[in-house]
Amino acid sequence: MAGRSMRALVATGDADLVGFAHVPMPTAGQDEVLVDVRAVSVNRGELHRILGAVPGWRPGWDFAGVIGEEAAPGSGPRAGTRVFGIAHGQSWAEHLAVPVRQLAVIPNGVSWEQAAALPTAALTALRMLRLAGDLYGRTVLVTGAAGGVGRFAVQLARAAGAKVTGIVGRPDRAYGLDALGADDVYVGMSGVTPGFDLILESAGGDSLAQAFTLVAPGGMIVSFGNSARATTRFSVSDFYPKQAILRGYFVLDDLAEDPPSDDLSDLVARYALGTLRAGIATVVDWREAETALRDLCARRLPGKTVLRVSA
Ligand SMILES: NC(=O)c1ccc[n+]([C@@H]2O[C@H](COP(=O)([O-])OP(=O)(O)OC[C@H]3O[C@@H](n4cnc5c(N)ncnc54)[C@H](OP(=O)(O)O)[C@@H]3O)[C@@H](O)[C@H]2O)c1
Repeated sequence: MAGRSMRALVATGDADLVGFAHVPMPTAGQDEVLVDVRAVSVNRGELHRILGAVPGWRPGWDFAGVIGEEAAPGSGPRAGTRVFGIAHGQSWAEHLAVPVRQLAVIPNGVSWEQAAALPTAALTALRMLRLAGDLYGRTVLVTGAAGGVGRFAVQLARAAGAKVTGIVGRPDRAYGLDALGADDVYVGMSGVTPGFDLILESAGGDSLAQAFTLVAPGGMIVSFGNSARATTRFSVSDFYPKQAILRGYFVLDDLAEDPPSDDLSDLVARYALGTLRAGIATVVDWREAETALRDLCARRLPGKTVLRVSA
């Protein structure tokens, strides 16, 4: 395989954001497989990194594809198996070498696009909800509820028996969230009654500041993003008397300690059963990646953006 190359999307470091480059074909190391990539999805975190990246930096956490004929021998799914998962970058490419413990098999009836939309967003939602323990009968507030992570968080919190409140950025973004399991949806946080057992907060800036006022005594705020790219100023006296917890969460750092295969299998099985929806806003060919990234940047897309990896 030495000397062979493949196409990948790389950061350009200029106004184009991303473009195609020929990069070395990866080889599967110990406990890895080589995947022929069919679809990938875009996460806001990747967009933020692309906007500040040096030319040549290679994005790509989520992927769906088929185990290639040149898969490493040993354990793991056989050549030809449809798989999806989460990598530490570089999945926006024709081929990807990835640890077996970071992927799962795609069941029949689940598309490449649905599978590619799932890993980062749904794993983040699932594992943050777990931080609060049993959610049955408890109250959960999700900011960015119409986004990729938000839609999964609403569904998974409801499935765990919680009463779910979603926060969206504008009225049309509330559409369909009740069907996903939101009991209440608000545009912005003013008017929301305090007392949430768990708040999943990713908008950052003033939204995080308001979360300090809305969390219940003994509750938990999980801060996992800063979509607004803004500084948060808050009054500590809104927070400490409640003896609440502020937790940070970062899914990529969680993968080594807690490999995601089993969670990915559980989540994709919910797709197959029809109890979890992907929340895909758009599917485009990866040649349209720049436009898709611009749409995401401008908040034009409610939900996940999926790129089809074509020849
Ligand atoms: N820590 C982790 O492990 C982890 C993992 C995944 C994602 N994240 C973070 O979580 C956040 C959500 O990720 P995602 O991929 O789900 O993004 P997304 O699909 O773009 O969703 C973001 C949501 O946040 C809302 N939002 C509120 N204020 C915003 C602002 N100033 N700029 C942009 N969006 C704003 C948007 O509302 P509208 O619908 O009204 O536009 C949108 O629904 C991002 O900050 C991302 O970096 C963190």
